[in-house]
Amino acid sequence: MTINTVDQAPRDMRYFPEADDIASAMAPADLETINEIFHTPLTGSYNWDYFSADGRIRKLYELGKQLNWNVEMDLDWSQTISKSEYCTDQDFNLFKGYEPYEALSESRKIEFDWHYLASNTSQFLHGEQGALLVASQLVSCAPSYDAKLYAASQAFDEARHVEVFNKFIQTQLGMMYPVNTKLKSLLDKILSDERWDLKFIGMQIILEGLALAAFKGARATTRIPVFAELLRLVIRDEARHVTFGVNYLEEFCKTLSEKEKEERAIFALEACVVMRDRLISEEVFIAFGWDPADARGRVLESTVLSEFRNLLFSRIMPNLKRIGLLTDTVRPQFEALGLLSYEDFVHDGEIDWDKLSRPLFDSNVA
Ligand SMILES: [Fe+2]
Ligand SMILES: [Fe+2]
Repeated sequence: MTINTVDQAPRDMRYFPEADDIASAMAPADLETINEIFHTPLTGSYNWDYFSADGRIRKLYELGKQLNWNVEMDLDWSQTISKSEYCTDQDFNLFKGYEPYEALSESRKIEFDWHYLASNTSQFLHGEQGALLVASQLVSCAPSYDAKLYAASQAFDEARHVEVFNKFIQTQLGMMYPVNTKLKSLLDKILSDERWDLKFIGMQIILEGLALAAFKGARATTRIPVFAELLRLVIRDEARHVTFGVNYLEEFCKTLSEKEKEERAIFALEACVVMRDRLISEEVFIAFGWDPADARGRVLESTVLSEFRNLLFSRIMPNLKRIGLLTDTVRPQFEALGLLSYEDFVHDGEIDWDKLSRPLFDSNVA
């Protein structure tokens, strides 16, 4: 093993030879660990009361243990489709009618579809790695016994999510896009801030709220059976994580001063602004030789996408309201972004135990 420490995340695409598993895709001579260092002024704590104060958090932890699944055993990796077919439902194709897209041959359009999926899925993977790192920090930082145990179980869930998206990318898509710079800057901010609750807000409310909506969108439009199934399993875990975040933060935010609350509200707003911008895969446009600004404009004009883009926030807004961070200072700015209308949507503060407890392989689970 050689360790190569880089100053910033690599910007190049990675391609993988066709193989059934990741181990055989990489020859030993290719193994190189690529690291980028971040520093964090982490203030950790022991917990000495070992007291389960919140039955809801404890129950979510128990569910996490019960609903474990195995990337290798519980997914049928043969349930895939040929690269000569479209991988997404073409009714949702945002590029129909766009000249540079229409100029592509049929086979290049299919290739574009696979690239677009690879780009989105790569961001899922990079985001999951961020979630893994944050969850591991929360084990140290979270003050209560319940929260430490829960964060540890979440860290294991996130490890599986990294594993499953990585396996799907390397063995089924064969290409990985670099991390989107906007997503990376938000991950940097969350990982290197010293306030544990801000990490918590950034991860459990903003990134996981967005991820849940994005995973559901991907699941509804994919034509690849194993991808739909792995998303179903990941969505179940993420729903539990968001529920934990809202329930824990609701209590915690009540302990903050008005000034502290305002700082958190502004952070949440800024995170939403950054993430709203990242939801367009400009990297694919560049890979296909298009003018990224022009293609971006085209996508932004699309009603389907602008509706979908806002819908991605429909889980975040009611949750921010529930934990008390939709303050008078930030409301007008959320209004200007067109997101305030979601504030009264269903939040994750009330726990639907029946839904969260369903067996993993109940075919009726949505
Ligand atoms: Fe995750
Ligand atoms: Fe998560």
